[in-house]
Amino acid sequence: MPLNDNPAITDLSPLGTAPLIDPFGRTVDYLRVSVTDRCDFRCVYCMAEEMTFLPKAELLSLEELEILCRRFMAAGVRKIRLTGGEPLVRRNIMQLIGNLGAETKTGGLDELTITTNGSQLSKMADDLFAAGVRRVNISLDTLDPYRFKAVTRWGDLNKVLDGLRAAQAAGLGVKINAVALRGVNDEELGDMLAWCGDEGFDMTIIEVMPMGDIGTENRLDQYLPLSKVRADLSKRFTLTDIPFRTGGPARYVKVEETGQKLGFITPLTHNFCESCNRVRVTCTGQLYMCLGQDDNSDLRRALRDGGEAGLDAAIVEAIGRKPKGHDFIIDRRHSDPAVSRHMNVTGG
Ligand code: GTP
Ligand code: 5AD
Ligand code: SF4
Repeated sequence: MPLNDNPAITDLSPLGTAPLIDPFGRTVDYLRVSVTDRCDFRCVYCMAEEMTFLPKAELLSLEELEILCRRFMAAGVRKIRLTGGEPLVRRNIMQLIGNLGAETKTGGLDELTITTNGSQLSKMADDLFAAGVRRVNISLDTLDPYRFKAVTRWGDLNKVLDGLRAAQAAGLGVKINAVALRGVNDEELGDMLAWCGDEGFDMTIIEVMPMGDIGTENRLDQYLPLSKVRADLSKRFTLTDIPFRTGGPARYVKVEETGQKLGFITPLTHNFCESCNRVRVTCTGQLYMCLGQDDNSDLRRALRDGGEAGLDAAIVEAIGRKPKGHDFIIDRRHSDPAVSRHMNVTGG
């Protein structure tokens, strides 16, 4: 669609005068940036064991990633989350984190956050805090070392727990992300919630999403609806709905026994797309307007061919075709991926 046919965009130039509003009236003010598709783990719901990663030559440089973030900020983005793969394994990533973190100190951003598997936190937590990061989401699906090895294939639970301690000591707020996995951690989620209470962590439980071919694993076997998880947890804890929001997709309850918050991310059982406020950029500069759809825009080409002005125009054009939502289904007839790319490409 030509830019000026998009009814949602009233002022195209310069960016910064018009917020990014999609065709469904949703303002996009949250950018998720996958800074690498590589990871030091191989979680069974995220990747196949044998993965081919992008050639390094295709990656945006850290400088290009920063320009991209800054153009989104000029267009009204207030929150940036760095994801991966594992974002903290990208070489020199502190350079980008430092420069974007500085924006949180001067009001250019409300928040710079990271979603990490925790493996690098013991050495990086202090630097993250100094850079302006105030909270991190750490993916942790089990506290049992053997189960942890089975789920992550390559991970070491002790290293992650050391990372958690380092994050706490550095003053970072910690939220634990656990993907609910049938027959794997369903019996353990209550104990994890209690542990989060003891440690002062909030927790989010996530439904597994059908993204990418995961080899021998079967989505239907993995999938555990959170309606069931909530019912089970309610036998042990008093869960009170609260209006708290982070700008992410989780819907929260207060766990009365611990005082901590518990979030439910339910892309399968309860679609939250009507309030979607985010888009994601991959490490090669592809902009995905929806996690669950394939349509994307090549911002690397736009930047390299057209500079910042080209980038601005491409961003506006892409937001003009942000889809209404995802179509994730997991059941007997639909156990194939809804989209072919794996979660490590967009980082959720
Ligand atoms: P907070 O800022 O703490 O709310 O973080 P968040 O929930 O936005 O981010 P996080 O990276 O911790 O993501 C948690 C889970 O939510 C991941 O499994 C993501 O894939 C999933 N998620 C985030 N955004 C979306 C979305 O737009 N659609 C869907 N279906 N899932 C999402
Ligand atoms: N479905 C749901 N969550 C997933 N994650 C990775 N792959 C999937 C999937 N297929 C989670 C990770 C991390 C977050 C970024 O996404 O555990 O918490
Ligand atoms: Fe790595 Fe995160 Fe995927 Fe696990 S879920 S393999 S930690 S990117």
